[in-house]
Amino acid sequence: MKVLITGGCGFVGTNLALFLKSKNFNVNCLDNLSRKGSRYNLNLLRNKKIRNYKFDIHNFKRIRKLPKYDLIIDCCAEAAVEVSKKDIDSVINTNFLGTLNILKKAKKDRSKIIFLSTSRVYPIKDMNNIVKKKIISSKIKIKKTFGENDNLQGPKTIYGLTKLSSEMLIEEFAYAFNLKFLINRCGVISGPLQFGKQDQGFVSLWIWAHLKKKKMKYIGYGGLGNQVRDVLHIDDLCELINLQIRKFNKINNKIFTVGGSKKSYASLKQLTHICERITNNKIKFTKVPKTSIYDIPYFITNNYHVTKTYGWKPRRNILKVVSDTFLWLKNNQSIINKYF
Ligand SMILES: NC(=O)c1ccc[n+]([C@@H]2O[C@H](COP(=O)([O-])OP(=O)(O)OC[C@H]3O[C@@H](n4cnc5c(N)ncnc54)[C@H](O)[C@@H]3O)[C@@H](O)[C@H]2O)c1
Repeated sequence: MKVLITGGCGFVGTNLALFLKSKNFNVNCLDNLSRKGSRYNLNLLRNKKIRNYKFDIHNFKRIRKLPKYDLIIDCCAEAAVEVSKKDIDSVINTNFLGTLNILKKAKKDRSKIIFLSTSRVYPIKDMNNIVKKKIISSKIKIKKTFGENDNLQGPKTIYGLTKLSSEMLIEEFAYAFNLKFLINRCGVISGPLQFGKQDQGFVSLWIWAHLKKKKMKYIGYGGLGNQVRDVLHIDDLCELINLQIRKFNKINNKIFTVGGSKKSYASLKQLTHICERITNNKIKFTKVPKTSIYDIPYFITNNYHVTKTYGWKPRRNILKVVSDTFLWLKNNQSIINKYF
């Protein structure tokens, strides 16, 4: 089977490309290498003879001319929520018009589509309502989980808007042109090959900061580090997508929420403790009490449907995420240094 992975030199894209190649898929990638770290990932792909088409996903003329693929996995995005507030045009072009270009290509070639969506499609107010506090001073109770049927109405960040719009565009194309798709709405994903930033990929950033003894900040909700997220190990996601591809003819045109769930989550402070244990280093944190309008205090995924459909659940927890990412960072730090 021929597979094209857009954003294929990013964190998710590269892991997926290497994983699918190891399962004997014929994989190519499309990535303009705009993300820091994507050049490092490109070398790993080249070592496995995976080709990357280096151009912009906005460029439909070039996309049209690509060979025909049986499946396109869309992992291309400007995924940082704060960037999406400042650079609206480029975020809409990459995240929404990029998906449109991929859909036009899929329509022409009758390719199947798997789209990597996000938990940020849910409105910020619904997450804030769970905690109802401007300062989170103690541990949040882990009760509510977010699933496919939760409310989608309300501001969610421009990033979240572009991803939800892409989901809807995919459904329209499937309806009008009889395309087959799957959408995975993922919570935080982490693991090796992630070059983290504060507002995207914070888990690998945390581990890197501990390894290199850099100062960090707890930002928002009082600056105490009590915000909670679930974290999915990238290998669990790769295994799920492999299953989805194999069952695509029977199970398609569905949206799934996919995440670490109650099996794998942590507050920022808990993540710090895990990093301290694994790296044996302790670093200084400054408190920044003010909360960005885009920050959320809590997100835990409900995997009920994806588990019922595929028998899949995350096998790895947050400790495994941190220890695997730590090993990758530690063993490659001299090369990785310039990308963080
Ligand atoms: N990492 C997470 O925690 C997470 C969570 C939920 C959903 N997602 C989704 O998964 C997908 C992959 O995320 P990621 O963490 O791998 O992000 P990433 O930034 O590591 O990868 C995205 C890749 O897309 C490329 N790219 C960006 N703009 C481009 C353009 N205009 N043309 C061509 N290439 C371009 C970048 O160079 C980068 O290599 C995204 O769609 C994201 O929304 C990620």
